[in-house]
Amino acid sequence: MTKPAALGQFSAAFRNDFSELLRWRRDVRSFRNDPVDEAALSRCLDTFTLAPSVGLSQPSRIVKVVSPQARQATLENFQRANEKALAGYEGETAQAYANLKLAGLKEAPVQLAVFCDEATEQGKGLGVQTMPEMLHYSVVSAIMQFWLMLRAEGIGLGWVSILDPKALCASLNTPQNWSLVGYLCIGYPEEITREPELERAGWEHRNAHPEIIEC
Ligand SMILES: Cc1cc2nc3c(=O)[nH]c(=O)nc-3n(C[C@H](O)[C@H](O)[C@H](O)COP(=O)(O)O)c2cc1C
Repeated sequence: MTKPAALGQFSAAFRNDFSELLRWRRDVRSFRNDPVDEAALSRCLDTFTLAPSVGLSQPSRIVKVVSPQARQATLENFQRANEKALAGYEGETAQAYANLKLAGLKEAPVQLAVFCDEATEQGKGLGVQTMPEMLHYSVVSAIMQFWLMLRAEGIGLGWVSILDPKALCASLNTPQNWSLVGYLCIGYPEEITREPELERAGWEHRNAHPEIIEC
């Protein structure tokens, strides 16, 4: 008998599909330029409120970057940061790095800057006394499930971290206590694949098993 997901019971078929979803999730850098379905995007954004967060603090803050000026500032920020990053490599590795496409900032129809509100009073400080970084991890958890939900809707996400966060906060004029966690490029992917792009480019390969030690 099929288990009813609406009652919190998940079937073997669902587990299999979920596992496939994890395998088919990709970091996307090449997007089609057709607009993203608004209703689908809205469903995905709602998952932010379902995410785990330390003390139930819900510290994610989302800025939808729409204006051409703000997008241009992000693109230039990335280009500067990427040039600096390239300068840190030598020889064949530098050549390989230069050939990678590491952001879809020119073409992604939807762009979100996701911040952590470090001054949030929600959660009353539970769980962050000794490890304040837990607030940031909470935002990462929310992004992760947003990413999966997008993928389930056929929408791709590319996480851009090659940015100067201070300059980005200045160009987006965000509150002082917000720190950047992820700049997300979103749209329909140009291609659908099971292999990470960096793996296909020969930059790095994915380990088949997690490293686990016992103590
Ligand atoms: C926190 C974080 C930051 C990332 N930043 C970048 C980035 O700036 N540029 C990029 O091309 N990929 C970025 N990625 C994507 C990774 O390169 C990608 O997840 C990895 O190569 C595995 O590929 P997959 O996500 O398609 O499985 C980032 C991923 C994470 C989780």
